[in-house]
Amino acid sequence: MDTETLCPIRMADEPGAIASAADILHGGGLVVFPTETVYGLGAEATNDRAIARLFAAKGRPRFNPLIVHVADARETEQYAVFDHRARRLAERFWPGALTLVLPRAPNCSISRLASAGLATIAVRVPSHPIAAQLLGIAKRPIAAPSANPSGALSATHASDIARALRVKVDLILDGGPSRLGLESTIVGLTGTTPTLLRPGAIAREEIEAAIGMLADPETGTVSAPGQLASHYAPRAHLRLNAKKPAPDEAFLAFGSARAAGAVHYANLSESGDLVEAAANLFAMLHALDDSGAPTIAVAPIPETGLGEAINDRLRRAAAPRNAS
Ligand code: TXA
Ligand code: MG
Repeated sequence: MDTETLCPIRMADEPGAIASAADILHGGGLVVFPTETVYGLGAEATNDRAIARLFAAKGRPRFNPLIVHVADARETEQYAVFDHRARRLAERFWPGALTLVLPRAPNCSISRLASAGLATIAVRVPSHPIAAQLLGIAKRPIAAPSANPSGALSATHASDIARALRVKVDLILDGGPSRLGLESTIVGLTGTTPTLLRPGAIAREEIEAAIGMLADPETGTVSAPGQLASHYAPRAHLRLNAKKPAPDEAFLAFGSARAAGAVHYANLSESGDLVEAAANLFAMLHALDDSGAPTIAVAPIPETGLGEAINDRLRRAAAPRNAS
């Protein structure tokens, strides 16, 4: 796509508009679509490369985990582990403005980049009819943060989508104003006590009426684990900015860096493409971690574009771990 061109805005009820949005998603493209809370910036959730493009479009300096939008509660069980509390909330509030953070299911096909390397995943079944139709036609889960550049306000009208995003996405589906205008409420169900990770369009009291008291994220910590210093801790140690691996180290290379002698080796992007590198990051870290090497040496990554988020993530993965 010509990077200077603003993408088209199509009325969602125009014949073929939703089907072409689904085609774009299948092809790894980006579509802004309406939900009942705010507009979402969507990418096909199993496609690492599309998710990397999404982070680049959003301009986030780090990989915040994304909410995966799914057609119905039954399908979400392919991606996330539901306990009785999760089922109760899903029955009560889906489709709707509630996001559940749950453990990733074994063999979950959602991009690891979409959940920022965490062992958990945020899922939501939106109620907006256009979002529901798009999910139904695409037959794929859609990862979508709010459709605003990082740090800017969420958009509740197609006409509010920032130019900075319009040059980077492929299509905006206009479904009218978002009814709620406030992001979804996020409840974390990965520990013993349900936690209100983000207040939102469904009031705390309504959720507490269904499953009992919600804890606040511990004081002094930020709400999303995506922001903690060390949350996805590989078993192996990470050694950053490594020119080459020591004999017993696995090597995560970038660009033309060669790994003479490394038994376990992966290259984030031989051509030095940071979008490709972001797409490969978590899958390759996992694979090298699984190799059993005590240390993963990681080649230097430039700080430009998505490199900033990649380096942020690598530093967190390399950070000293809490005993807890
Ligand atoms: O209403 C909404 O939720 C909108 C619409 C488009 O669905 N989406 C939205 O996405 O607000 P976003 O990316 O702007 O906010 C998602 C929040 C972030 O704060 C992120 O840290 C949190 O969800 N999140 C996602 N996955 C998580 C996880 N595995 N654990 C904890 N927090 C998570
Ligand atoms: Mg947002």
